[in-house]
Amino acid sequence: MTSDAGRFSGKVVAITGAAHGIGAASALRFLSEGAKVAVIDREGEGFAENLGGTTDDRLLTMAGDCTDAAVLAEFHQHVVARFGAVDILFNNVGQSGRERAAQFHESEEEVWRFVLEVSLFTAMRMSRLVVPSMRERGGRIINMSSDAALVGDAGLADYAAAKMGIIGFTRSLARELAPHRVTVNAVAPGAIRTRAHDRLTPAVIERIKATTPAGFIAEPEDVAGCVAFLASEDARYVTGQTLLIDGGRWMI
Ligand SMILES: NC(=O)c1ccc[n+]([C@@H]2O[C@H](COP(=O)([O-])OP(=O)(O)OC[C@H]3O[C@@H](n4cnc5c(N)ncnc54)[C@H](O)[C@@H]3O)[C@@H](O)[C@H]2O)c1
Repeated sequence: MTSDAGRFSGKVVAITGAAHGIGAASALRFLSEGAKVAVIDREGEGFAENLGGTTDDRLLTMAGDCTDAAVLAEFHQHVVARFGAVDILFNNVGQSGRERAAQFHESEEEVWRFVLEVSLFTAMRMSRLVVPSMRERGGRIINMSSDAALVGDAGLADYAAAKMGIIGFTRSLARELAPHRVTVNAVAPGAIRTRAHDRLTPAVIERIKATTPAGFIAEPEDVAGCVAFLASEDARYVTGQTLLIDGGRWMI
């Protein structure tokens, strides 16, 4: 245990897309600091692999697709019934069009809609579920953006639009909820070693390293630590911000 052990004791944390990568690392981080953690992911088999099984009584897992509003509502109901109202929401789920990503002149509206659904609407819908009780009790919302939005990565116009949408959503909601002791912030990672990274060619990985001042690709735990900070009491006066976690690739 770190010196931060117990920092989130008694707090209820909900994380979307948490069977792998950044979401899983964040779930483990919150569990290690005493929180009760609820996670949803469409690849439920990943929970056993990456969250050390599902036996911890402070861990609630649910398999389901976050782009389905009814599934998110069911997840929220389960969390409240088992742990009580959500104190900390990490809207992590999202992705690019991946193999369907294209230069804009060849891109398809069906893919834009998918990317906006999974990367922006999930965050809005899940926030809509927790905000009524957070307005009464205080809370933390952390939304997943990407430095791809700020850099404007070519070939990812839909993803950049969704992740920039996250930043606008974060700022507006932060202003609305600040009087209610709720902070709303975004994290914007650069290159992080997750499954998406594993799909890149060695040449692309070298190019990323060369354009990253820090010169290396970070781990999911590097993002989890920043998410935990934004969720903590230490960050109570930080709201509406977007924290870049990208080794200096973009600076604001
Ligand atoms: N890895 C990076 O370099 C990087 C950089 C910037 C932003 N991000 C963002 O971080 C977030 C997490 O990505 P990651 O890199 O950890 O990816 P990952 O693939 O390792 O993990 C994403 C998880 O989300 C789940 N998921 C995907 N779509 C889902 C859906 N519709 N419903 C339920 N679960 C779903 C997947 O099954 C997976 O477990 C994403 O929003 C991504 O855009 C990642």
